Amino acid sequence: MSLISADAMANDFFATADIVAGKTLLDKNCISCHASSYGGDGSEIYTRPFHKVASSKGLVAQVRACNTNLNLQWFEEDEMNTSAYLNEQYYKFEE
Ligand code: HEC
Repeated sequence: MSLISADAMANDFFATADIVAGKTLLDKNCISCHASSYGGDGSEIYTRPFHKVASSKGLVAQVRACNTNLNLQWFEEDEMNTSAYLNEQYYKFEE
């Protein structure tokens, strides 16, 4: 386990996720669309005052929903890694 994923141990739900891999997947597949709707680097969709996601579980469910819409055919592991990165960077849920 890398140092960076050890960081995520604050949240048991994402304890085994690979945050670096998650960031790579997000940068490649997800950001341009959020950025074109919300401007900037697209991160405002996660930090807007009434953002939809309210828990780690909800976060994974939303990542899965976007992923299914896009038909990216990610593995569950990819969804977990990307959710863990989003949590570490933006949502900061503790469970
Ligand atoms: C084609 C455009 C598009 C792409 C590509 C896209 N999304 Fe989204 N995403 C949206 C829209 C639109 C919403 C807002 C949905 C709403 O408000 O109901 C959203 C919302 C979200 C949210 C919830 C934000 C909140 O309110 O807390 C997350 C998390 C998210 N997307 C993750 C992803 C991930 C991960 C990917 C890549 C697999 C991705 N999205 C790709 C359009 C997209």
